[in-house]
Amino acid sequence: MAKRRLPDELMFIENSRAIQGTTTASLAGKVCVVSGSTSGVGLAAVKRLARGGAQIVMVCRNREKAEGIRQVLVAQYGVTVEIVTADFSDLDQVRRASEALLGGFPRIDVLIHSVGVHCTTRTTTRDGLETVFCVNHLGPFLMTYRLLERLKQSAPARIIYVNSEGHRFGGLDLNDLNWEKRFYIGLRSYGASKTAQLLTMWEFADLLRGSGVTINAMHPGDVRTNIGHNNGPLYRWFLRHVTWHLLKDPVISGEALYYLAAAPELAEVSGRFFHLTIDEKPAAHALDRALGRRVWDASLRLTGLTPGP
Ligand SMILES: NC(=O)c1ccc[n+]([C@@H]2O[C@H](COP(=O)([O-])OP(=O)(O)OC[C@H]3O[C@@H](n4cnc5c(N)ncnc54)[C@H](OP(=O)(O)O)[C@@H]3O)[C@@H](O)[C@H]2O)c1
Repeated sequence: MAKRRLPDELMFIENSRAIQGTTTASLAGKVCVVSGSTSGVGLAAVKRLARGGAQIVMVCRNREKAEGIRQVLVAQYGVTVEIVTADFSDLDQVRRASEALLGGFPRIDVLIHSVGVHCTTRTTTRDGLETVFCVNHLGPFLMTYRLLERLKQSAPARIIYVNSEGHRFGGLDLNDLNWEKRFYIGLRSYGASKTAQLLTMWEFADLLRGSGVTINAMHPGDVRTNIGHNNGPLYRWFLRHVTWHLLKDPVISGEALYYLAAAPELAEVSGRFFHLTIDEKPAAHALDRALGRRVWDASLRLTGLTPGP
């Protein structure tokens, strides 16, 4: 009897258990820029990329923490590792870091955004933006946009967003991106940021068609990282004593990101969402292209890439 297929919305369960793609392709000499690389998924990614011979550029907010990682990567893999600092809750810093990348690196072969946060209470940035939306979506959007020409000059090049199955929580409301009119729910705010990232990813993919630059998003698995540790003691207790035991080693995220960055069979694959390495259909609300174009415009405006109204 043929195996019954799960509905699209539940395929992530099957995909999380599937055999994942791997590659032996080398990234020797390729310049890989990775945001959020001081912890968790991003850290697993830079370790794996360094093992594959890549030159690493860590984009992070804590230089001291990054310096410790830099020394280990250089000693273990003999690659070059450079550090560019930016707090993604401050778009000015993201702008300056983008300029530093343009000034310091004549080619960028791979850009991975793993920077991310989950907050149970609403906070705002110095620009007055809701923090999760700014760090998870607007900051990476701004940096990606600023680096587009450099990536095109470096083609073939790949952009990978570390997104999340959490986009399925929804929560995106164009009339209230700042969560001023609604009761704040952390998971929905997280869902909103990840939905906005996916919706603008399809737009980037269209923009980049034929340029030799691909852009894809992925869920990095459910892995043991520091995400959520910025929240209150009760939340942290739950993470430590309940969730932690259900999670996997982020080494699987590093492997998946390496595959997406290096696998020759993905050279021309763009505008897809992967569960680790398995191509998956996102939630319907993240496929609404008309909404996506409005989110694109709002993202350009909020990041100062186009003037406000
Ligand atoms: N863990 C999971 O199971 C899971 C599942 C789905 C999706 N994800 C996604 O995976 C990505 C990485 O998260 P993670 O789980 O690896 O969490 P993590 O261990 O907390 O790592 C997050 C990274 O982002 C950095 N970061 C956070 N806020 C920042 C800011 N304002 N400016 C600059 N950098 C900042 C952190 O820097 P510091 O080291 O300085 O804190 C760290 O390097 C996120 O996009 C998350 O949504 C994770």
